[in-house]
Amino acid sequence: ATHKLLLLPGDGIGPEVMREVEKIVGWFRKRGVGFETETDLVGGSAYDAHGVAISEDAMSRAQAADAVLFGAVGGAKWDSVPYAVRPEAGLLRLRKDLGLFANLRPAICYPALADASSLKREVVEGLDIMIVRELTGGVYFGEPKEIVTLEDGSQRAVDTQIYHTHEVERIARVAFDLAGKRRNKVSSAEKFNVMKTGVFWRQVVTRIHKQEFSGVELEHVLADNCAMQLVRYPKQFDVIVTDNLFGDILSDIAAMLTGSLGMLPSASLGAEDPASGQRKALYEPVHGSAPDIAGKGLANPIAMIGSFGMALRYSFGLLDEADRLDRAIANVLASGTRTKDIAGPGMNAVGTQDVGDAIVKE
Ligand code: NAI
Ligand code: MG
Repeated sequence: ATHKLLLLPGDGIGPEVMREVEKIVGWFRKRGVGFETETDLVGGSAYDAHGVAISEDAMSRAQAADAVLFGAVGGAKWDSVPYAVRPEAGLLRLRKDLGLFANLRPAICYPALADASSLKREVVEGLDIMIVRELTGGVYFGEPKEIVTLEDGSQRAVDTQIYHTHEVERIARVAFDLAGKRRNKVSSAEKFNVMKTGVFWRQVVTRIHKQEFSGVELEHVLADNCAMQLVRYPKQFDVIVTDNLFGDILSDIAAMLTGSLGMLPSASLGAEDPASGQRKALYEPVHGSAPDIAGKGLANPIAMIGSFGMALRYSFGLLDEADRLDRAIANVLASGTRTKDIAGPGMNAVGTQDVGDAIVKE
């Protein structure tokens, strides 16, 4: 089978970390894995070339690809371009047109990096949890959304949290399905005690569990308690599923259990195509374009490489290859080959390409 990948390196360190992924794609290709890659512009670099943050041509390539690998976008150069064509608009367009409703953020603590966490080694060592955040609904998008001036001159601000049955059903299915391939446990986080959307979320998740995934363990947890538990005893979790707002916050908390921004991959998945069973998907590091280190060969490529690892696992079903890549990353970290952001005290930091080469070698 051929796996069609669209590479969108973007701006700043995006192209630097994408180059390292291309080395790994090349390694697999030489060993007979059928990857077909195309590369296109996104963000500021697309704006410079086409006057928009992503061209229609790039959008149709994204639609045709089995997976999109996205680097990062943005930089001071484009800070004053019009809102509709600013670099982030490229990412928002991709999310919208590909219907990417499920954001997967793993928090993995490699033993070699346990001392870089904000928490004690024994709390995080070997941690491997997955936060599944609903990405296209909830309070960030619900209408009305406005600041209104009242007759007495005072003002009122409104955001609206709305969830429909199908939105909660599909994100719950993604979470249960993932858990079934992991440690078989889903923790669903909401605030049913004070929010109607929380009551509803709990009802729908409970029904999907009962009807379709009764073999997976399900627990309900209040979102604020979930935040506490994440810093108290995070290893109790396997998959956490939650709405857009709570997921934004909980995934950032989980991220800091594991060390640097340069280590964090993510995936965004869309609806399953009924004919092929394939999902549209975009894989990207959590970090941005890091203008402060761009062009210097200092960026940690592991977040980007790990995002490709997620594509192997979730878009292509290449589980052995994904495991092999994960092991290579763990071994390289253990050997002390690290970029500056994760080098321990007294350790010699190496460059972006050194880490990529070391992973290929492993
Ligand atoms: P950032 O993630 O680019 O950088 C934050 C800090 O982390 C910087 O000190 C940077 O050097 C460091 N860092 C980030 N990635 C790293 C890596 N791989 N290796 C080593 N160090 C790394 O966030 P910031 O500075 O807030 O934003 C910079 C630009 O990126 C802005 O234009 C922003 O809009 C854009 N951005 C883009 C995102 C995307 O493309 N999805 C996400 C976040 C920000
Ligand atoms: Mg956030």
